[in-house]
Amino acid sequence: INIAVLVSGGGTNLQALIDHIENGYIDGKIEVVISSKEDAYALKRAKKHGIEGIYIGKNNYYSLKERNLKILEILEEKQIDLIVLAGYMSILDEKLVKRYKNRIMNIHPSLIPSFCGKGFYGKKVHQAVIDYGVKLTGATVHFVDEGTDTGPVILQKSVDVKDDDTVEDLAKRVLAIEHEILPMAVKLFAEGKLKVTGRKVRIGGF
Ligand code: GRF
Repeated sequence: INIAVLVSGGGTNLQALIDHIENGYIDGKIEVVISSKEDAYALKRAKKHGIEGIYIGKNNYYSLKERNLKILEILEEKQIDLIVLAGYMSILDEKLVKRYKNRIMNIHPSLIPSFCGKGFYGKKVHQAVIDYGVKLTGATVHFVDEGTDTGPVILQKSVDVKDDDTVEDLAKRVLAIEHEILPMAVKLFAEGKLKVTGRKVRIGGF
């Protein structure tokens, strides 16, 4: 399958996908990496692996509408089958989300529906986890729908929250889980093993 990865930051999730494609775990090809930040290290990772990296953000497209139109154009031109949001910090408009229903995946650093939605991203998620005092957190891969972090859940994995955890400790522990479950979800999609019925995602041989 042809994959597009949308990024905004360091790209460690992108790297996990690149590694799992190169070692044969995922039967797919990353056709393009699109970043909403011009200086995202993720673009350097793409370049190093011979993957086309494109910046589409405030400096070269003024309105969000224009950005989304450009992204849609690229996705269609490259006949993308699956879009993966890997630390992507911009908005995909409703038209694009509808067009790629159940073909856009996002990785979120908590056990959805806890600690997600508007304002819950990056370190803020782990700070909220620590402030609340929960004993478990983790990561979730889900399909993207019109809401924020509200689409059908594909895979989740939990990690312990230790009493003396700092945000950095937690972020590191959760990121390691992200790097496991995101490649797994993409693999399952590539093998046609994800069946979505309404909100429910079933994994199976079919
Ligand atoms: C991390 O906070 C991760 O939890 C979330 O996006 C952020 C950046 O990830 N998915 P990456 O290193 O750019 O993949």
